[in-house]
Amino acid sequence: MNFTKTMEVKNIFNKISYKYDFLNNLLSFGLHKIWKRKLVNLLEPLNGEDWADFCCGTGDLAFLICKRVSPRGSITGIDSAEDILNIAKKKSELRKNKFIKWEIKDILEINDYSKNFDGICMSYGLRNLNNAEEGIKKVFYLLKDKGRAGFLDFNHSTKNSVSNIFQKIYLRLIVVPISRLFNLSPEYAYIEKSIKNFPKKDELIKIAKEVGFKKAEYRSIFLGQMGILTLAK
Ligand SMILES: C[S@@+](CC[C@H](N)C(=O)[O-])C[C@H]1O[C@@H](n2cnc3c(N)ncnc32)[C@H](O)[C@@H]1O
Repeated sequence: MNFTKTMEVKNIFNKISYKYDFLNNLLSFGLHKIWKRKLVNLLEPLNGEDWADFCCGTGDLAFLICKRVSPRGSITGIDSAEDILNIAKKKSELRKNKFIKWEIKDILEINDYSKNFDGICMSYGLRNLNNAEEGIKKVFYLLKDKGRAGFLDFNHSTKNSVSNIFQKIYLRLIVVPISRLFNLSPEYAYIEKSIKNFPKKDELIKIAKEVGFKKAEYRSIFLGQMGILTLAK
C-alpha cells in the first residue's frame, strides 16, 4: 500500500469535510445530484437487497439507495476519513434515518471476501484510491454472484480533446479559484492530479474484465466531463 497517498487523501477529506457539501453544490451547479441519481437509476437497487456505498463521504449515494432497498434490505456507507463520515452520520440523525449503517474503514484493507452485497456503488471514490484496480478487485470479491456495481467519477478524456481542455479550464479557472476563497485551494487542485493518474474508460473496462466481471460498460456524461462505469458479475 502507498501509505503516503492514503494519508494525503485522508487529510484532504478530513480538512474539506466541513465545506464538502456546500462546495460540491456550488462547483457542480448542483448537477452532481443529477449524476448520482442517474447512477442509482442505472443500478436499479431493489427493496430487500444489501448494498454498500464505498467512499461514501457525506453519504449522498447511501441516502438515495436507502430509499430503494428499505425496509427489507440494508445499506452500509463506508469511508476512511472520520470527519467526513461524521457529517454523513449527522445528516442521518437529522433525517431520523436509522436504517443506514456507517463504518469507518479503508476499503482497500477489507479482507473479508464473504460476498455480502447485491450491489456496491462509489461516486468520486475510485479515483481517490491508491490503486483503482485494487478497488475494483475488492468490489468483485465482496459482491454476491450476479451482483452489480457502479462508479461515477470524472472522465479521464484523451489529452487535448475538447472535453479534456474544457475540464482543465473548469478545474483551473473555476474550481481552484473558488476553493481559494475558503483556503482550500491545494486540496481542490489535487483533483486535476488525481484525474491524470486515473485509468481512462477503455482501461477501466479492461481492468474490470480481467478481474472477472462479465459485463462492463462505460457511459460518458455531461459532454464527456464525467463517466459512469457499470459492472455485473
Ligand atoms: C470525493 S469524495 C466522494 C464522497 C461521496 N461519495 C460523494 O460522491 O460525494 C471521496 C471520498 O473517498 C474517501 N476515500 C478515499 N480513499 C478511501 C479508502 N481507501 N477507503 C475508504 N474511503 C476512502 C474519502 O475519505 C472521501 O470521503
